Amino acid sequence: MSQQFDAQRARRVIAQHAKTSALFGVDFVPVKGSLEPKANADTSGAAKALKVLRARYEKEAPHKPFISDYQNIVWDDGDPCAKLMFVGEAPGADEDASGTPFVGRAGQLLNKMITAMGFSRETVYIANVLKVRPPGNATPTTPEIVASKPFLMEQIKIVRPEVIVALGLPASQCLLSKKEAMGKMRNQFHDLEIEEGLVIPVMPTYHPAYLLRSYTPENRKKVWEDLQMVLTRLGN
Ligand code: URA
Repeated sequence: MSQQFDAQRARRVIAQHAKTSALFGVDFVPVKGSLEPKANADTSGAAKALKVLRARYEKEAPHKPFISDYQNIVWDDGDPCAKLMFVGEAPGADEDASGTPFVGRAGQLLNKMITAMGFSRETVYIANVLKVRPPGNATPTTPEIVASKPFLMEQIKIVRPEVIVALGLPASQCLLSKKEAMGKMRNQFHDLEIEEGLVIPVMPTYHPAYLLRSYTPENRKKVWEDLQMVLTRLGN
């Protein structure tokens, strides 16, 4: 009975994975389907530190000179000790309403990307450069990014992921302190020194919202190539 159940479940999982991968335009099935926790991960310590940091963010409100018309601070989602972190640009309307990053259409595509990698959303960590929604979903301005970046860097220091995926141009340029085009930055790792002696590799890639707007096999292939390099770096 339980063997039959396991076989049924395995078939379901494989079918779901194949469906997701096909939707995402990939022809790759991960051999190892999980993101193992980091050795000696202090999850409750990291969660506590993130909570303290969030309280400091709320008090200092670095967005205040620029953005006042928002519903929720959108702080983070996922495992505070994740090996893999995704950094987006700024919350949109769905994220503003829910207080959780990447829950709208772009978030659903991000979930598919994570699933196609063989992981689940709960085992990665997700945050944005800006923590509140810019009016009209405007692209973050340099002063907004400069004001928020220290908090993103503190989040990274607490989570200490093994790899970061920067989603889209603003997140990539923010993390790498570079003004280069995505085509020049993607498909290679860049060093992000978060403290002396601690360098985290960052993989810039196209934002899921851009992919939705330009859902071509060519663009999907490019993102998938970037994510495959991340999988290799993670040892998967
Ligand atoms: N786009 C982002 O960059 N972040 C979100 O949280 C949602 C959409």
